[in-house]
Amino acid sequence: MQKTASLPLPSPDALAQSVTLTSHIGAALDAAGGWLPFSRFMELALYAPGLGYYSGGASKFGRGVADGGDFITAPELSPLFGRTVARQLAEVMEEHGLDRIIEFGAGTGQLAAQILGELAALGVPCREYAIVELSGELRARQQVALAAHAGQVVWLDALPERIEGIVLGNEVLDAMPVRVWARRHGLWREQGVRRAGDGFAWQPAPDAFSAPLDVPAALAQVPGGHDIQTETHEAGEAFIASVAERLERGLVLLFDYGFPAAEYYHAQREHGTLMCHYRQHAHDDPFFLPGLQDITAHVNFTGIAQQAMAHGLTLAGYTSQARFLMNAGLMEMLMELDPRDATTFLPASNAAQRLLSEAEMGELFKAIALTRDIDTGTLSGFARGDRAHRLLTDA
Ligand SMILES: C[S@@+](CC[C@H](N)C(=O)[O-])C[C@H]1O[C@@H](n2cnc3c(N)ncnc32)[C@H](O)[C@@H]1O
Repeated sequence: MQKTASLPLPSPDALAQSVTLTSHIGAALDAAGGWLPFSRFMELALYAPGLGYYSGGASKFGRGVADGGDFITAPELSPLFGRTVARQLAEVMEEHGLDRIIEFGAGTGQLAAQILGELAALGVPCREYAIVELSGELRARQQVALAAHAGQVVWLDALPERIEGIVLGNEVLDAMPVRVWARRHGLWREQGVRRAGDGFAWQPAPDAFSAPLDVPAALAQVPGGHDIQTETHEAGEAFIASVAERLERGLVLLFDYGFPAAEYYHAQREHGTLMCHYRQHAHDDPFFLPGLQDITAHVNFTGIAQQAMAHGLTLAGYTSQARFLMNAGLMEMLMELDPRDATTFLPASNAAQRLLSEAEMGELFKAIALTRDIDTGTLSGFARGDRAHRLLTDA
């Protein structure tokens, strides 16, 4: 992983915003007595109103440093991603008479545009495409990207009380705050944040904040007694619980990077999965330039499945992104392009390669499907290579 000292410098304006966010977080830290759990730091660094990475003005998504991007997501990489997802959605929408989609954290609006375009091409009606977006800046970008679908797209500030339809999210769970824990000499202690110079540093919870009974149950799944640092996902699990409570009938389809608990908490993953993205570089210092870099953790899909099932959802499928996309027809879609047309075919097949390759997004990224009150049989995206049993054996 890259050392932060070698990373490119931000513009003076971006730096000024980071300094303002740093003092905002510092004030929260002082008010809390000098220590904050990492989850609270992560929440402020990403979502402090007007200043956080997602709630402020950072560019975030893009192919390279030149367009100001820090990382690239599947719908940004290729329209084949959203078009293939749309084919899975079309199957469920037609079979079960569903015509409403809710997308969480819609980024630049590319996934929504790809899905709405493909559903229209397939002749599958979508009465409403609702976007729940925490970032005002991203909402503005989505309004421009989705201008052609103005009649269908609406923006919501919060989850509706009752949902009938499809709930969709790409790389949303990994952007939710995590708690960080370290086991040293057999004892778990929550890891948090203190002031250090002009910024912040790691600090284990002081005694007053740390009682053995507070250690989350998920950590009982960490085998052995070796020293390890890892994360628990209270925010992501609360999110899926509240989606499940509101879903009256339909499908939840989520894509993200992560593993079942047995892999997540494997002895070899001794440093956990916390990762930061800044201008296409990955590193492990969450205190570098608050507000100017993404902070993420991989998803514990066992925890997501358990919460969903505890709230009455059915686990309808879990597989790698590559399997899902191939099952749902990505290769057929690629074959519809003319291989002699180098300007369209080559970029499309290169992007497909990145979406499917084990070394890139194909294996680390997963798709999970959860349903209520619709009998899907087998969803086509999970027809071959479904690994749902790996989440259930952990459960
Ligand atoms: C890594 S970005 C992914 C964006 C987009 N889905 C894509 O694939 O390009 C994560 C997004 O999740 C959003 N997010 C995180 N927590 C959320 C929540 N509770 N509700 C809605 N959006 C959320 C963030 O604001 C951000 O837009």
